[in-house]
Amino acid sequence: MFFKDVAPSALVASLLAVGPQVASAFYLPGVAPTSYKPGDQVPLYVNSIKPVASPQDSRLHSIVSYDYYHPAFHFCQPEGGPEPMSESLGSILFGDRIMSSPFELHMNKNETCKPLCSATYPEKSMEFVKKRIEQGYSLNWLVDGLPAGQQIEDQMTGATFYSPGFLMGQDDESGNVVFNNHYEIWVEYHAVNRNADQLRVVGVVVQPSSKKYSGEPDCRDNHPQIVLGEDGTPQEVKFSYSVYWRKSPTAWATRWDKYLHVFDPKIHWFWLIDTAIIVIILVLTVMSILVRTLKRDINRYNRLDQINLDDLNGTSALEEEGVQEDSGWKLVHGDVFRAPTRPLLLSVLLGNGAQLFVMTGSTIVFALLGFLSPSNRGSLGTIMILLYTVLSFVGGYVSARVYKSHQGEQWKANIVLTPLLVPGIVFAAFFFLDLFLWAKQSSGAVPFTTMLVIIGIWFVISIPLSFAGSWLGFRASPVEPPVRTNQIPRQIPPVTTYLKPIPSMLIVGLLPFGAIFVELYFIMSSLWFSRIYYMFGFLFLCYVLMIIVCASVTILLTYFLLCAENYHWQWRSFMAAGMSGGYIFLNCLLYLVTKVKLGGLAGMVLYIGYSALISLLFFILSGTIGYFASWWFVQRIYKSIKID
Ligand SMILES: *[C@@H]1O[C@H](CO)[C@@H](O)[C@H](O)[C@H]1NC(C)=O
Repeated sequence: MFFKDVAPSALVASLLAVGPQVASAFYLPGVAPTSYKPGDQVPLYVNSIKPVASPQDSRLHSIVSYDYYHPAFHFCQPEGGPEPMSESLGSILFGDRIMSSPFELHMNKNETCKPLCSATYPEKSMEFVKKRIEQGYSLNWLVDGLPAGQQIEDQMTGATFYSPGFLMGQDDESGNVVFNNHYEIWVEYHAVNRNADQLRVVGVVVQPSSKKYSGEPDCRDNHPQIVLGEDGTPQEVKFSYSVYWRKSPTAWATRWDKYLHVFDPKIHWFWLIDTAIIVIILVLTVMSILVRTLKRDINRYNRLDQINLDDLNGTSALEEEGVQEDSGWKLVHGDVFRAPTRPLLLSVLLGNGAQLFVMTGSTIVFALLGFLSPSNRGSLGTIMILLYTVLSFVGGYVSARVYKSHQGEQWKANIVLTPLLVPGIVFAAFFFLDLFLWAKQSSGAVPFTTMLVIIGIWFVISIPLSFAGSWLGFRASPVEPPVRTNQIPRQIPPVTTYLKPIPSMLIVGLLPFGAIFVELYFIMSSLWFSRIYYMFGFLFLCYVLMIIVCASVTILLTYFLLCAENYHWQWRSFMAAGMSGGYIFLNCLLYLVTKVKLGGLAGMVLYIGYSALISLLFFILSGTIGYFASWWFVQRIYKSIKID
């Protein structure tokens, strides 16, 4: 049964996924469908209350989410108290707090105006709720795993789609804050067969409204609205809800489509193709020039060698050689493989960068293949943590291998620091930011038990795997450089302005950032505005583009550096490529100014803290790409010339 319903569309979608479908969402259903008989109870769960764009200025006014049953909200609880649902690690980390609710929905049974409970709001709670409504908080409910949303019409295409969550309240015409206490729940169902005894939930829309009941709730339209703080405190609010069932042609397997609406896919494609073309033309031009120049260099160097050997007197040839060899990258052959300063730190960063690189790539590929179903809440976060943990083996191996190749001697420090330094910084920052959330009584604060689980995974799985990787890396023979390194380091002549560390970083870092700039905008809006992100096709293209650009511009920088007889390419290439992380941070700050309007200090610290954390990880990731591209390049060019 399951297969018959699910497989065809999923299969077709997977076949199309590589084609133009790349843009639209593709997912495997993930969980088995639940069929209900008419009259069966369909559970409604409540999730944390999250801020979304404020209706007035469409900016984000807060980034702190709250528990649905936070005492100040006074929302109705089920008998015997709410029970938390079990959730995946990624779901918890990304802020889901799913609980049971007192709402009773019965499949295909319309019920109008069911009273729920009444609550009395003392002044303090009322101020709290009022503030939250002004900041644009929305309620997030789940019916059969599907978020209850609001129906929105796309102005460009005219298509209707569902945006998850609905507002807790809004402003009325005269600017008063109105609180919604009546919920009209519209559930769409799909009949599996003719008899209509197997019904599935395929869409949920909630229309909240405000009704100030004088007596028992009757849900008529002629009630005035509940204006918070209007007639003094304490204020009493009676909650009620209605449920309506509507038949829908949408099949269960495609029920998420309406939620995963991509905003203006045309514009998105346009931007992406635009950037891609510019970037590819740029890279191709530059690379072809570089390759031609290199070929000429290599020919010249090797011819000079030949002349040198043939001519026994050697005077004329040597003169010629003396003139010609006075410049160019061949001069630094005795220094180019000299170990960099601080090889320990560099190798630790490179190990972690390699780990991040493989993790990001495999996560995107997983998502692209449709494994991260949106109905498995938090699967993206879970798979990322899982992959990061397992891939610490790669991190340890790369770090050890690089360190050994740089003739590092503190191998114990290398083994210990690789799984501890970067994850330690991330964890410490995360913990610090969590304290802020905790102080704000936010549901986003990661529970203590989850913290323990993370520490457990880190110490029990990640660190031993990293040690194993390091062990293998140290046992492997070091990468032998193609040319010998001289005893005495060469003097480095002063370089032109644009090759100085800061200018070169600013120039090189800008291009990889340019490649992902558009996608970054969508990622940030889904991160901060709690929108569902499902454009992994775009993301994949951007990632590939970013890698290509990052590698090419760093190679170019390395070439210019070597031509300028500066052989400190290791740190320089890492830092220059990593600078795109710096640009990401700047971009986050720009986003803060234009799209976000946070009131308090806590919100500011949280926003900047998370942005800095993401930028730091991206710095390590792109720096690693840049370093290894340059490393490959340097190996290649010095292998192809003869040195006596
Ligand atoms: C429930 O109400 C909707 C909308 O009024 C209507 O289309 C539907 O037929 C009703 N269902 C039942 C079982 O009465």
